[in-house]
Amino acid sequence: MKNIGKDDFVNGFVPNHNHGSVDYTGVTDGHVHQCLDITFPPTMSQDGSHIHYTEGYVLFEEGHNHHYRSWSGPAIPVGNGMHVHYYEFQTTEDNGHSHHVKGIDQPSPGTK
Ligand SMILES: [Fe+2]
Ligand SMILES: [Fe+2]
Repeated sequence: MKNIGKDDFVNGFVPNHNHGSVDYTGVTDGHVHQCLDITFPPTMSQDGSHIHYTEGYVLFEEGHNHHYRSWSGPAIPVGNGMHVHYYEFQTTEDNGHSHHVKGIDQPSPGTK
């Protein structure tokens, strides 16, 4: 399992991979925050798939930011030996509101 790049086809599970994402939060109080995330490495799940933990904070906007902690959904194969994960979470409450965030992260090597 060495020298696996983002364009290599890998059948099965790839240890220690992670995922990036570039997203925006939902609109609350008339604004959004950009959300740039890199997940932790995989945690095995009981069905033989894996999920990813992530935590961080969104970009400063309108005088405040928000933090978040979340677990992804299971691996979703997308062809070419790659997979993605669905994520959905609510940020912390700051300035009297929070934001909903959901989407699909960037593909990483492995099919499960
Ligand atoms: Fe906000
Ligand atoms: Fe993954």
